[in-house]
Amino acid sequence: MGNFKDKVVYQIYPKSYYDANGDGMGDIRGIIEKLDYLKWLGINDIWITPVFVSPQNDNGYDVADYKKVDPLYGDMEDLEELILSAKEKGIGIMLDMVFNHTSTEHEWFKRALQGEKEYMDYYIFKDGEPDQPPTNWESKFGGNAWEYVPSLKKWYLHLFDRTQADLNWENPKVRRELKDVILFWKEKGVTGFRFDVVNLISKPEKYENDQEGDGRRFYTDGPHVHEYLKELVEDTGIADMITVGEMSSTSLENCIRYTDPEEKELSMCFNFHHLKVDYKDGNKWELQKPDFKALNALFKKWQEGMEQANGWNAVFWCNHDQPRIVSRFGNDKEYWKQSAKMLGTAIHMLRGTPYVYQGEELGMTNAGFTHIEQYKDVESKNYYEILLKQGKTSKEALSVLRERSRDNGRTPMQWNGEEHAGFSKAEPWIGIPDNYTWINVEAEKEDSDSILNYYRKLISLRKELPVIQDGSVEFISHENPNVFAYRRSLGEEELLVFCNLGEEEIEIDGIKTEDYERIIGNYQGIAVQENGFMLRLYETVVLKKM
Ligand code: GLC
Repeated sequence: MGNFKDKVVYQIYPKSYYDANGDGMGDIRGIIEKLDYLKWLGINDIWITPVFVSPQNDNGYDVADYKKVDPLYGDMEDLEELILSAKEKGIGIMLDMVFNHTSTEHEWFKRALQGEKEYMDYYIFKDGEPDQPPTNWESKFGGNAWEYVPSLKKWYLHLFDRTQADLNWENPKVRRELKDVILFWKEKGVTGFRFDVVNLISKPEKYENDQEGDGRRFYTDGPHVHEYLKELVEDTGIADMITVGEMSSTSLENCIRYTDPEEKELSMCFNFHHLKVDYKDGNKWELQKPDFKALNALFKKWQEGMEQANGWNAVFWCNHDQPRIVSRFGNDKEYWKQSAKMLGTAIHMLRGTPYVYQGEELGMTNAGFTHIEQYKDVESKNYYEILLKQGKTSKEALSVLRERSRDNGRTPMQWNGEEHAGFSKAEPWIGIPDNYTWINVEAEKEDSDSILNYYRKLISLRKELPVIQDGSVEFISHENPNVFAYRRSLGEEELLVFCNLGEEEIEIDGIKTEDYERIIGNYQGIAVQENGFMLRLYETVVLKKM
């Protein structure tokens, strides 16, 4: 497996990054223009969410042609230039492979709809009556996971939107086609891949109703998933590239297998358990304050568990499917700066590869939308309707979206304080929070105390200190669940990382501060006390043994 332990990856959602051609939507040339910024920030690789031909029902996660660039983003020459220019600056490009499903506009699906047997076998079609879906499984975007096709008198499976039909990985032809896609992009010089919801690719032999849940237990980390991944990696020769699998509702045991270098599956995995601690009874659409005790327990389990078994984590708070972390686990008002820096530290000192999602390095906040018309995301729109049907008023439903919508993370990158945040000359495809006048790259680059300059320092620390790259990790327990703390150690080297997730001072006892050097933190100095120190509101401090 390739060496990625000293790397930091930056995620770009192109539609909202930078608009070079002035149509209100970000594009590939926009990314090329911002490569110097990324080089300055110090990141190693960029993961770009899908830019392939797509009807954009799910903003590109509904791919209609895996080998063509959607004109919305530019053309093949632009993408080739991006790969090349990035390479010249020492930055790798990771593309997003959406292999669990295709768009229903994909040629394969269109031919399947024509009744071509060969292509029907590319998908999961089941016989049935128009009023009786084959199982009661639910789509992740709401509603039943099957769609009826009258002309075929069959249903097809879609774990996501109805326009995202699940591929049949049991069919060796499908696996061959997908390997071919990997080879095509590998040839173009990309350095790695992100695999979308890749632990859902292997469906069960029997399709039965789920009496206990929404069906996910039957297809999550399914029967042949490890086998299929090994085959994909081996046949395309990507074992030494940087690869990350997005794992939906997965388990520690499976993620160990996905990432143990001896298994030759993936470099690392994303899991989302830590981002469900504010879901009430596991329901994203029911608001609840974050449970930091659970958060601590989850990180302890995953960090220590992955290390013991030689697995590797991708560590992150944000992506294009998540609300902004400073608005979620921090305080985006009075303690905006402190809490954003604290949350960044919590992730960047961990064992694993940190991912920075565009704008996170600025402390960008949730969108603050107040009208349903402002939302663009298919999931948000579906759930708005579902919440109304469940009896919520429109005001109540909007207050849930305000916290939970994926669009919170999709507002344009805030480049400067000018019109449209310097993102575009035209009206952007989605709204921009008012705070762009002071939360933006230009302003923060100049301010040595900014969140941006703090992230830059966090990124450079990983390159400087082997203990961050390779040290073992051990969580430090404290009676107050707002303390998020861990020790990293490698030989003689030792780091202590303390984060206060709350708005009260907490005493940390039993640390001889004089034995440590403070290497980064969000307050001036350390509030030394007789038997340790005081962790102030949203304070973080990293101590290195002298
Ligand atoms: C992943 C993507 C998300 C997409 C879904 C279906 O979770 O991150 O944006 O909607 O897969 O492809």
